[in-house]
Amino acid sequence: MDLKRRPRRLRASETIRKMVRENHLRIDDLIYPMFVMPGEKTRVEVSAMPGVYNFSLDEFVKALDEVVKLGIPAILLFGIPESKDSVGSGAYAEHGIVQEAVRIAKKHYPELYVITDVCLCEYTDHGHCGLIEQGEILNDPTLDLLAQTALSHARAGADMVAPSDMMDGRVAAIRDLLDKEGYAHIPIMAYSAKFASGFYGPFREAAGSTPQFGDRRTYQMDPPNGNEAMLETALDIEEGADLIIVKPALAYGDIIYRTKERFGLPVAAYNVSGEYSMVKAAAANGWIDEKRIVMEALVSMKRAGADLLITYHALDVARWLNEEG
Ligand code: PBG
Ligand code: ZN
Repeated sequence: MDLKRRPRRLRASETIRKMVRENHLRIDDLIYPMFVMPGEKTRVEVSAMPGVYNFSLDEFVKALDEVVKLGIPAILLFGIPESKDSVGSGAYAEHGIVQEAVRIAKKHYPELYVITDVCLCEYTDHGHCGLIEQGEILNDPTLDLLAQTALSHARAGADMVAPSDMMDGRVAAIRDLLDKEGYAHIPIMAYSAKFASGFYGPFREAAGSTPQFGDRRTYQMDPPNGNEAMLETALDIEEGADLIIVKPALAYGDIIYRTKERFGLPVAAYNVSGEYSMVKAAAANGWIDEKRIVMEALVSMKRAGADLLITYHALDVARWLNEEG
């Protein structure tokens, strides 16, 4: 055959494949989500997420040692409070669980970049991300509480805040309060394109944040909508977002791609709990090659345009990358 173009020439050996590889996973891409809870000397494994734990603060510090040793640059913190109430007081308490976790993390590992999830759902007894009145999730009255939450995290020493509630105007409210209180230097990583997803199931078990009535469809986005994700992102950027999260990741590669193409800001793909659980379950059955699947899924997010990867696989990925050298 007289073929001029033979793409297989550049696939002939691992050496040449490596040379022409377009996208790479790096340890510096990784953000590791972690859950902290009250108590002492306990770590409770999340049943649908083998290898993921709710840590008491002393155990959390021990776990951080591993994170830092592996060279993972950043964590994303979630808290499970001692008690919940209708206004999510624990979310913005000066000595709340996340605030204390931030202090202890920054004290032991000042170089570790500590990002906090800003939301109310882990702290409200009804499990919704906003205040409730007659069964409705209120938007504007929630904004002040979210801003107070972000401020309390910044005061504790958080390096970055990540609002995940999907109320309209929350980035503006947070930016405004942080700036007023002397935290103009703290970046906001907004969950701009956050979809009302079935893939969050295992997380809600971990964080005890399942809504007690209804669902999150009146604030999180409708999965079929892509253009609306662009609107959400544009608004968040106008309001002051520095980085954008697309969430979930695996089924939303088009959103990652469009966000990066259109806005150019740093984009983080959130490889969520359900995505992790599916891989773990299939791997435990011997049905898939876990390492291969994880690396392939994550590099697909980078190929789509993600700069950062928020993933529960971070420890394994860092180990694998370290082994490969
Ligand atoms: C809180 C929050 C959720 C996740 C991140 N922040 C749960 C939700 O919106 O119900 C999901 C993370 C995951 O599934 O890994 N709003
Ligand atoms: Zn929430």
